[in-house]
Amino acid sequence: MVIHKNTDLKTIPTPYYLLDESAIVRNLKIIKQLCDDSGAKALLALKCFATWGVFDVMKPYLHGTTSSSLNEVRLGKEEFGGETHAYSVAYSPNEIDEVLVYADKIIFNSLNQLAAFKDKAAAKNIAVGLRLNPKISNSEFIIADPARPYSRLGEHDLIKIEAVLADITGVMIHNNCENDSFDAFSASLAAIEQKFGNIFYKLEWISLGGGIHFITANYPVDKLAKRLKDFSQKYGVQVYLEPGEASIHQAASLVTTVLDTLYNGKPLVVVDASIEAHMLDLLVYRETAPLVAINNVPCKHTQSETENSTIVYGKSCLAGDIFGEYALAEPVKIGDTLAFGNAAGYTMVKKNWFNGVDMPSIVIKRLDGSIEVQQTFSYSDYKASLS
Ligand SMILES: Cc1ncc(COP(=O)(O)O)c(C=O)c1O
Repeated sequence: MVIHKNTDLKTIPTPYYLLDESAIVRNLKIIKQLCDDSGAKALLALKCFATWGVFDVMKPYLHGTTSSSLNEVRLGKEEFGGETHAYSVAYSPNEIDEVLVYADKIIFNSLNQLAAFKDKAAAKNIAVGLRLNPKISNSEFIIADPARPYSRLGEHDLIKIEAVLADITGVMIHNNCENDSFDAFSASLAAIEQKFGNIFYKLEWISLGGGIHFITANYPVDKLAKRLKDFSQKYGVQVYLEPGEASIHQAASLVTTVLDTLYNGKPLVVVDASIEAHMLDLLVYRETAPLVAINNVPCKHTQSETENSTIVYGKSCLAGDIFGEYALAEPVKIGDTLAFGNAAGYTMVKKNWFNGVDMPSIVIKRLDGSIEVQQTFSYSDYKASLS
């Protein structure tokens, strides 16, 4: 729903997420080139980004969506179209029939789930896959490591997997997390081939998941394309990629206003948003929000702890609700606007109503440069989320 068209950014009340369609398209052009050169198909991972108000500009570059729940698979079918893959760590018997209304492929996380629901999928001619866990990964964070010890994400036992090959046409393996090293990706794929290669020859499709950070500067996209093409030809499979972060990297900022300033050993600033409520992923991963603009003037401040550096706090009561600490040339004042970058992936999908802090509006800078207020939230949204 578009609330206001052609708005002047300066008149929009903060906080708001500002999403830039041109930045999205910059990423998607790289993805499309990779697909054209490799024969792979790319599906937007909705768990990372599901702001469907920009799906129209994304559709020409991607083949569809992949999901992690009934709600996501439905959104993908309704608002994106193309191929619609369904995956969930565990489907409940109550939801599976509806999932199969929207999905054209369904990937089960375990042999139990496969056994429970494969006949329902087969009855509707929906392709069935299984998630494999290669027990190796390229993830710096244990919390995001699908191959962590005792992981529940996918099956690893070759003998058990071979026993169900007649029930599946493909597999999904996701074992990268913001991995910007082609060599590391290629080496782990080689190790996966060592383990599961014999199975791969018997499949029609293999999804290699997300987390390959090929939109980063100087990534050898041509080498990745060749690696994927060779892989696909060797096993005779259609390769899928599930880019989330790569699709929308650096395409959004969270724009806030300074409400207060204090001093407690260092200059402190309080803004009208909250890292816990509005950029939760950064808090989970203990990362600093990049400060990308002050009063609409672009800047590039990342974490910097000096004697006089400024700590920017959110307005929730969490003592550690900290966007970051920055070495600023000039002190910021009450009323200044601060914009934090990288606010699209795993950010907008995780926003919550902690402390009842105002939910940021969603503002879109369209390809033609016009500004649209796509969505605003109010007390009734807060109230409805609770009872
Ligand atoms: C199965 C699967 N596919 C795709 C993705 C998207 O990963 P990214 O956003 O890092 O590309 C994830 C992320 O957790 C995932 O678990």
